[in-house]
Amino acid sequence: MAFNPKDRFFHKAKADGYLARSAYKLDEMQKKFKLFRSGDLVLDLGAAPGAWSQVALKLLGPKGLVVGLDLKPVEFTAANAKFYQMDAFNFDSEILEGRAVDCLLSDMMANTTGFRDVDQARSFDLCGQVLNIAEKYLKTGGNCVLKIFEGPDAKKIDERFRTLFQESKRYKPEAVRKGSIEIYIVGLRKKAL
Ligand SMILES: C[S@@+](CC[C@H](N)C(=O)[O-])C[C@H]1O[C@@H](n2cnc3c(N)ncnc32)[C@H](O)[C@@H]1O
Repeated sequence: MAFNPKDRFFHKAKADGYLARSAYKLDEMQKKFKLFRSGDLVLDLGAAPGAWSQVALKLLGPKGLVVGLDLKPVEFTAANAKFYQMDAFNFDSEILEGRAVDCLLSDMMANTTGFRDVDQARSFDLCGQVLNIAEKYLKTGGNCVLKIFEGPDAKKIDERFRTLFQESKRYKPEAVRKGSIEIYIVGLRKKAL
């Protein structure tokens, strides 16, 4: 089937007021895994344009908070969301203002060069950095979602997830485009380290 940038999720996102069709990926994973709940602090890595944050904010309520970061500025604003233009590799815990993270989301995608080995290595490094942040700042019992690309390194990331979380599984939401090698690893209930 030919790639259709304006598929049914694109049109649905417009109708529902979401900034991107990616909203439905998180929506589906939230319904299935109960990743976050009212009052939580959600750290959204690679937040731009802001669709995942929009999905999270719907559930977090007035006592919840989204802290998002991206290389690009996030134009979207909300009372209980704070966005920072920051490289995840230079993650500065100051943005958490001393609070622990209940749920860590990463939909980050490294810029591609077209050279498969280089792209896979970049993507692997980015996943490693998300896991470093999860190790340090995610609460015991907290949940995590990480976008990865199927490939030789994916198994190594699975292994780190199994070490860090009581339960970990791969999941491909319906809104992931057909033929895409993109997949998510979901880590549930971080172990006490
Ligand atoms: C697929 S988009 C995220 C879409 C977002 N989840 C949404 O629903 O609106 C991937 C994002 O990852 C960001 N990104 C890639 N590498 C990054 C890095 N090292 N640090 C921070 N953000 C990064 C990109 O700038 C891009 O905006």
